[in-house]
Amino acid sequence: MPVLRLDKLISECGLASRKEIKQMIKSGRVAVDGIVAAAPEQKVDPAISLVTLDGEAVCYKKFHYYMMNKPEGVLSATDDGKQKTVLDLVTPEMRKLGLFPVGRLDKDTTGLLLLTDDGEFAHKVISPKSEIVKTYHAWTEGAVNSSDVAAFADGLVLADGTKCLPAELKPVDDGSCLVMVMEGKYHQVKRMLASRGKPVQRLKRLSIGALKLDSSLKPGEYRELTENELCSVLKKI
Ligand code: URA
Repeated sequence: MPVLRLDKLISECGLASRKEIKQMIKSGRVAVDGIVAAAPEQKVDPAISLVTLDGEAVCYKKFHYYMMNKPEGVLSATDDGKQKTVLDLVTPEMRKLGLFPVGRLDKDTTGLLLLTDDGEFAHKVISPKSEIVKTYHAWTEGAVNSSDVAAFADGLVLADGTKCLPAELKPVDDGSCLVMVMEGKYHQVKRMLASRGKPVQRLKRLSIGALKLDSSLKPGEYRELTENELCSVLKKI
């Protein structure tokens, strides 16, 4: 692990701003290996030293992983000159971590969105080669039928000739359906259902791999993933 400035190490935990952390250090609330730290610029190797804030261990993490319940009307982007993005919903401290959304949900799509600063992880989640299943709940104009299910299983060809990998379609009793895909082409689920004459009215992502959206998160809320949840993202289901 890299040797870091003490204030940088604490700020990368997303706990507080660099300015606030400097103040915490000055007021003697931070210790390194039991010795009260005097200087924000003190170098610390997080693999060797124990850093505490008010006596509680500060766990340095190289990368960060969050799940958000993406609300409608917000872009899955880091920044946009005009429109609100998912990064506008997180704290300024979290914004400084350099998080970005793992793949994209459309502006009107809701549900499970991962935010991370780990590019390799994001690539694995998105790449169809990893065969990670993304599950969506879709409400369509007209209910899907068994021939739609068979067409999804065969691999659809979209109106513009784009070939889709075989996907699973499961009708739900109330007339909506579940769609399980391993790829994330532009407007993929909407275009797949539209190609069967079932335009999507509402779309929500429920899971990625074995990771389900935490149902206690209200639209716009987010939280850090646990270690187990992080592993479950890359699990094939
Ligand atoms: N497929 C879509 O059509 N839209 C999304 O937001 C996600 C998958």
